[in-house]
Amino acid sequence: MPKSKIAGLGYYLPEKIVTNDDLSQVMDTSDEWIQERTGIKERRYAEKHKETTSSMGVKAAEMAIANAGITNEDVDFIIFATLSPDYYFPGSGVLLQRQMNMQGIGALDIRNQCSGFVYGLSIADQFVKTGMYKNVLLVGSEFHSMGLDYSTRGRNVTVIFGDGAGAAIIQPSDGDEAILSTHLHADGTNAEVLSYINPGSHGGAHDPEGQEKYEYPDQEFGGAFITQKMWENEDLYPHMEGPTVFKFAVKKFPEVIMEALQSNGYTIDDLGMLIPHQANLRISQFVQRILGLSDDQVFSNIQKYGNTTAASIPIAFAEAVEQGKIKKGDLVCLAAFGSGFTWASALIRW
Ligand code: COA
Repeated sequence: MPKSKIAGLGYYLPEKIVTNDDLSQVMDTSDEWIQERTGIKERRYAEKHKETTSSMGVKAAEMAIANAGITNEDVDFIIFATLSPDYYFPGSGVLLQRQMNMQGIGALDIRNQCSGFVYGLSIADQFVKTGMYKNVLLVGSEFHSMGLDYSTRGRNVTVIFGDGAGAAIIQPSDGDEAILSTHLHADGTNAEVLSYINPGSHGGAHDPEGQEKYEYPDQEFGGAFITQKMWENEDLYPHMEGPTVFKFAVKKFPEVIMEALQSNGYTIDDLGMLIPHQANLRISQFVQRILGLSDDQVFSNIQKYGNTTAASIPIAFAEAVEQGKIKKGDLVCLAAFGSGFTWASALIRW
């Protein structure tokens, strides 16, 4: 079977920089707390009413297309990963397609949160390897700042997340460059531990007290994804049990990285660069220590951008290449963990 490769990477970060001190003006937090627990110094926020998840994706896609040396007309399939889409439906994939004048080709939206880019890469890899498509555009984009809780109640989540987009073009490879393997996992046991459950169709069904909480039983026919009770309960924000997420992440990251290396007959010493999902600098440092990786084998840029979920890996990957930290022939591992829980890795010969 032919191999596939990443032929070009791109990224986009909104101009507006929001520092930890800026956040401490609106909620009870501090630069010291945020840096000590997460490593984050600042993040970017998109321009409301002008930028959208899909428009940021377009900018990243344009750079990836240029870096791959192709044009929009060459793209034959779109995969769009986000948890903060422009609309509840349709997905952001068709909105990006419209802005890039690529009407007619397929556009797939995937919802795998922080693992979205690696899940998308796996899908693109299979399509290219089977010969179905020749230039898959994969985009991860997030507009978190629109949906965060800026009161002190939301501080554990809000300080972590930032906006941005990343993209890649996946093509057939006839050289050594290749996506060697991808590894996808999920365990829904803890689905709500890191979640944004409203608006949705659940009507409280997963929660013993939920039906009363969401008022759904009052409406025999129809209803609404958003109810008055949700506003009253202020239940329209993301929820995260940080310590539980941390514990799972530091277990699953090393497992999925070793799975990628071992299934290709490599050891940790062969690894040129690990690009972990930029969840939290402490998580990346923990993983680095457990695996015995050196500082120049692990890339981090969360200090500047916070956690950009589906966009974090392609932004970091593109920056690492741009900064000359990844060279032709290097073995690169992408590893992700996030809401679901989902976790995934990809091993790449660059
Ligand atoms: N500023 C100041 N204090 C904060 C705060 C903030 N931004 N966020 C939470 N706190 C407070 C809490 O209210 C709590 O106070 P209390 O002890 O008076 O109740 C205290 O800090 C400790 O909270 P806790 O949630 O136990 O903190 P923590 O040490 O676990 O750190 C995280 C919180 C979120 C930084 C940490 O759990 C984490 O990084 N988890 C993983 C998150 C992640 O990676 N998510 C994305 C996955 S893709």
